[in-house]
Amino acid sequence: MLFIWFCLFSYMTSTSTSLDSLAVSQSIRDGETLVSAGGITELGFFIPGNSARRYLGIWFRNVSPFTVVWVANRNTPLDNKSGVLKLNENGILVLLNATNSTIWSSSNISSKTENDPIARLLDSGNFVVKNGEQTNENGVLWQSFDHPCDISMPEMKIGWNLETGVERYVSSWTSDDDPAEGEYALKMDLRGYPQLIVFKGPDIKSRAGPFNGFSLVANPVPSHDTLPKFVFNEKEVYYEFELLDKSAFFLYKLSPSGTGQSLFWTSQLRTRQVASIGDQDQCETYAFCGANSLCNYDGNHPTCECLRGYVPKSPDQWNISIWVNGCVPMNKSNCENNDTDGFFKYTHMKLPDTSSSWFNATMNLDECHKSCLKNCSCTAYANLDVRDGGSGCLLWLNNLVDLRSFSEWGQDFYIRVSASELDHAGHGNVKRKIVGITVGVTIFGLIISCVCIFIIKNQGTARKIYNKHYQNRLLRKEDIDLPTFDLSVLANATENFSTRNKLGEGGFGPVYKGTLIDGKELAVKRLSKKSEQGLDEFKNEVALISKLQHRNLVKLLGCCIDGDEKMLIYEFMPNHSLDYFVFDETKRKFLDWPKRFNIINGIARGLLYLHQDSRLRIIHRDLKTSNVLLDANLHPKISDFGLARSFIGDQVEANTNRVAGTYGYIPPEYAARGHFSLKSDVFSYGVIVLEIVSGKKNREFSDPEHYNNLLGHAWRLWTEERVLELLDELLGEQCAPFEVIRCIQVGLLCVQQRPEDRPDMSSVVLMLNSDTSLPKPKVPGFYTEIDVTSDANSSSANQKLHSVNELSITILDAR
Ligand SMILES: *[C@@H]1O[C@H](CO)[C@@H](O)[C@H](O)[C@H]1NC(C)=O
Ligand SMILES: *[C@@H]1O[C@H](CO)[C@@H](O)[C@H](O)[C@H]1NC(C)=O
Ligand SMILES: *[C@@H]1O[C@H](CO)[C@@H](O)[C@H](O)[C@H]1NC(C)=O
Ligand SMILES: *[C@@H]1O[C@H](CO)[C@@H](O)[C@H](O)[C@H]1NC(C)=O
Ligand SMILES: *[C@@H]1O[C@H](CO)[C@@H](O)[C@H](O)[C@H]1NC(C)=O
Ligand SMILES: *[C@@H]1O[C@H](CO)[C@@H](O)[C@H](O)[C@H]1NC(C)=O
Ligand SMILES: *[C@@H]1O[C@H](CO)[C@@H](O)[C@H](O)[C@H]1NC(C)=O
Ligand SMILES: *[C@@H]1O[C@H](CO)[C@@H](O)[C@H](O)[C@H]1NC(C)=O
Ligand SMILES: *[C@@H]1O[C@H](CO)[C@@H](O)[C@H](O)[C@H]1NC(C)=O
Repeated sequence: MLFIWFCLFSYMTSTSTSLDSLAVSQSIRDGETLVSAGGITELGFFIPGNSARRYLGIWFRNVSPFTVVWVANRNTPLDNKSGVLKLNENGILVLLNATNSTIWSSSNISSKTENDPIARLLDSGNFVVKNGEQTNENGVLWQSFDHPCDISMPEMKIGWNLETGVERYVSSWTSDDDPAEGEYALKMDLRGYPQLIVFKGPDIKSRAGPFNGFSLVANPVPSHDTLPKFVFNEKEVYYEFELLDKSAFFLYKLSPSGTGQSLFWTSQLRTRQVASIGDQDQCETYAFCGANSLCNYDGNHPTCECLRGYVPKSPDQWNISIWVNGCVPMNKSNCENNDTDGFFKYTHMKLPDTSSSWFNATMNLDECHKSCLKNCSCTAYANLDVRDGGSGCLLWLNNLVDLRSFSEWGQDFYIRVSASELDHAGHGNVKRKIVGITVGVTIFGLIISCVCIFIIKNQGTARKIYNKHYQNRLLRKEDIDLPTFDLSVLANATENFSTRNKLGEGGFGPVYKGTLIDGKELAVKRLSKKSEQGLDEFKNEVALISKLQHRNLVKLLGCCIDGDEKMLIYEFMPNHSLDYFVFDETKRKFLDWPKRFNIINGIARGLLYLHQDSRLRIIHRDLKTSNVLLDANLHPKISDFGLARSFIGDQVEANTNRVAGTYGYIPPEYAARGHFSLKSDVFSYGVIVLEIVSGKKNREFSDPEHYNNLLGHAWRLWTEERVLELLDELLGEQCAPFEVIRCIQVGLLCVQQRPEDRPDMSSVVLMLNSDTSLPKPKVPGFYTEIDVTSDANSSSANQKLHSVNELSITILDAR
């Protein structure tokens, strides 16, 4: 008996204690694996897809579906389970078949090693052979990250070692069943200014555009921050990306059909998600419009347009949308004997092919302009790097190929035109209309233009770095004062508060997007001048608000006081507000259930902090979807908190004859009697939860049979026990019904008619995150809209449907 136990025990330990390294004289046979120290990746033999052949590869454990990231013998498969991987004393990995022939090896150069080499599988998915246990870079004899297959991973370099001439590139599999090198490859093209290109054999399939400080092709996905890096010096030139959220996983895959895909998952949700990138529209096809023309995509169709000063090469074909021949200069250049040329500026461009370009990283835009003007073969110029207001110079010396325009992102680009053409442009005041695709519009559901993601991501990154920088400043200054900004700086940053930079109209005044000279972005709230507050009072108030710091609250960075002007400066949120997403058919697809649940939870936490955990007890009083902003990761952040207090008074519970709030979100007792309490915010929160779940606006919703508002409708479905019908139909079957029902129930509890029945926010946070049974909700405040000017007690009687009045009522005398 003991013996059997002993055997069983040793059997179990031998299979369950997996090693992460392979030493000389050790081997791995088919069926055995190496597992990285953190249990994240695994190396061993596998069969891809429906193939019958066996390969040595690295994959991520516990992720579904099976995700192989690297294959050793991709071109020389094994026929049966007789494969053996060994490490020889020269530090070379060899893969042997049944007859002991080497079918794959890590190198054919034997480098003498002083120490015992060792091969180790890392959590990153890198398989590294080192010269002994030393940890420095020099000890690395070989690593799988230097030999990518179809996947690029964080910290894997794609590019060239210019000293050794070794190139690292991603190449597709032949098919899903065959890892052999396919016809597509993502490579760094060294002609002109280096750029990443997807090749199909020798031809260019698509291009990401040169790195301009922001963009990268092995691109990130909206929910996971990546930091792209482009290194270009005498020794090497490469792209790589770093994942900022270390608990998430992100891979770029070049599929057998040549499309880029992003694969991502988190350590909690081990189901891999795939999004295609690039190739979403024909404008991403290399040179779709031929030379010297511009591709526009309006969401349905691509159209091509000759650049200014150029005409179609084949007008007949051009007229019937055959664009391949592109455009040619209208007149022969007069450059040699006349230097009257000028430049025409295009904005929001993806820069053209840089394979015949010249660059200088230290020139500024003005020098760039001059040097382009001097050289008659120069056709266009642009900044090399758009960060910090732009720097460097990129000149194009030939035809301009593969340009496209976007509506909201992209780079400024200047093309050379003759003086007469420029005059024409000036006098005619022709406004070029670029029909681009809009940011974040998810035309194909999760499939998003990669460029869009680059920019959004990188704004996020830039903001993060900036916030860190700023936070330090705040911390240092906390005891002294809140940072103050000069009015002139803010006026400059917002182009004199131009309507173009207006982000929206909040409860207490308009909000503008500001860009400081160094490129840092801010949101500037210009408070309306109604406040009767004294200056010191205002300052104190703002200083207090600025100390409210929580991950689900928008950070107040400073203020500006200048005469009558009072402004608050907040961190800038690239993804607008929740209403912008949740009530928009196309954008809503982007918010899958886990994201929505995360938002519901985040708002609850932020509100709990305001109500209980912060030093001040703050009632928001105007909580609504447009006051919930989304950061680059779509995490919610509550804005406009603390303002009602400074504008109206600081009682915890009070009667007031002024109503602050927005119809659709205010509870009956508040609108009718001006009675507010923490439970008023709870009501507003409940409305938001039901709106997020259903994707419908409380104020605009009315079900056709019963003329209920959203709350009434949810209540009816609840009582009829078919509450899942409330769920946004776009979510389909991808979500957990248990969570959905729980959210709806919490929402209904929060919107109950009587304030004392509503839970407080700490209970809400608990209810959302446990699986204890919840109380049964009572009838909600059946409230759609109230005419405040009429009898104040007839709140529930006075329901109006289909209101189009969208205004946020902030301060309103109800006498
Ligand atoms: C694999 O095939 C070879 C020859 O085809 C054979 O000698 C060997 O025994 C096989 N190994 C296994 C494990 O089936
Ligand atoms: C092993 O590989 C060698 C060389 O590629 C080949 O000639 C031989 O047939 C292989 N043996 C088996 C059993 O596959
Ligand atoms: C392969 O090598 C192993 C160990 O080195 C040896 O035991 C085995 O007999 C060899 N097989 C053949 C077919 O040479
Ligand atoms: C082996 O050496 C040859 C010649 O030096 C080289 O062309 C080839 O790429 C090398 N193979 C590997 C796997 O390193
Ligand atoms: C192309 O179409 C425009 C108007 O649509 C017309 O004026 C022009 O003559 C056409 N050109 C050719 C070459 O057909
Ligand atoms: C370009 O050509 C057009 C027509 O062919 C002519 O009207 C215009 O004056 C020319 N511009 C220059 C600068 O020669
Ligand atoms: C340069 O162009 C201007 C106007 O286009 C013209 O008047 C002048 O004669 C030209 N000079 C030369 C040297 O061609
Ligand atoms: C780049 O421009 C700077 C400033 O104009 C100049 O000093 C430098 O020599 C240029 N570098 C190259 C490689 O042309
Ligand atoms: C224009 O600049 C390029 C790159 O510096 C150079 O190769 C070319 O000779 C220049 N042409 C003229 C006409 O100066």
